[in-house]
Amino acid sequence: MLVWAIASQKGGVGKTTTVASLAGWMQREHLRTLMIDTDPHASLTSYMGLQEENLTHNLFELYSDRELTREKVLGAITPTRFQGLDILASSMTLATIDRQLSGRTGVGRILSKALRMIDDSYDIVLIDCPPVLGALMVNALVASTYVLVPTQTEFLSLKSLEGMVRTFNIMQNADKGCRFNYIIVPTMYDKRTKASTSSLAFLKENYQKRLWGEVIPVDTLFRESSQMSVPAPIMDGGTRGSKAYRELFLHLVGCEMDVHPDLVSPATAATLMPDDGEGKDSEVVDATKGHNRMVEDQVAAMMSPEEPGEGSEA
Ligand SMILES: Nc1ncnc2c1ncn2[C@@H]1O[C@H](COP(=O)(O)OP(=O)(O)O)[C@@H](O)[C@H]1O
Ligand SMILES: [Mg+2]
Repeated sequence: MLVWAIASQKGGVGKTTTVASLAGWMQREHLRTLMIDTDPHASLTSYMGLQEENLTHNLFELYSDRELTREKVLGAITPTRFQGLDILASSMTLATIDRQLSGRTGVGRILSKALRMIDDSYDIVLIDCPPVLGALMVNALVASTYVLVPTQTEFLSLKSLEGMVRTFNIMQNADKGCRFNYIIVPTMYDKRTKASTSSLAFLKENYQKRLWGEVIPVDTLFRESSQMSVPAPIMDGGTRGSKAYRELFLHLVGCEMDVHPDLVSPATAATLMPDDGEGKDSEVVDATKGHNRMVEDQVAAMMSPEEPGEGSEA
């Protein structure tokens, strides 16, 4: 089972759209797909046409239950109206999670532990992150096999990208065994605007090794698709935006075949067309410069080993 976290410390950059669109292609490929909405704003949950108040289960119960079992994790999942596409829905209570978990150790590993219990049930898991560096994002990153960082091609987003790279480094420094494979995905690209072309040039110059070689273009289908509660590729796989997400999906499967061949299911591997598989190597950036010490300490603490008696995986 592959786990892809879609993360950025900025809102409105296309995270939820990326999750829904990749999920749409996976559904079309008949892959068993689980989406996890870890954003308390529940945009992905409502994108899928679901409302918190009508659901009996959501992600919060996995964080509040200290004795998780495979049955409990599976029981928290809700099917969507699209065959093979399930969701662990968000709830507003997730906004209190940092407070709820404070004082417990190993709280950064709750989600990865839960997903390990169901790793034969899905081909791919997609995690939509909130734009805040806290326990929800740390859990998503720790659980992931690959991280996608959607970056809107305009200058404010480039700044938040620096923040994300710093976060990866803080976490890797706190736990030497942890190493992130991440890929920057330029979104909402409009080749007619200077903001788009010059920020893409900046990304190429500064993040080349981590940059996906293509872009997600501006496409009005995405707004329509969220209004209709249907992932764009299921609505219309032929638009420029939908096609770009298909390329991204195939590229990621190619990367995972190189990095985690043992985690790629036969069904996932079968979707792969010839692909150049580039863009997976690492780039080390100074982690500490000018960053808020307190956040670093908190994030590092989440990476500490679990409390004795809470289960014992390395
Ligand atoms: N490629 C795109 N072209 C046009 N609109 C887009 C595109 N990607 C996202 N959007 C729109 O931009 C807004 C923010 O996207 P969203 O995915 O919700 O961002 P985030 O989850 O990062 O906050 C939404 O209204 C969405 O429909
Ligand atoms: Mg969102």
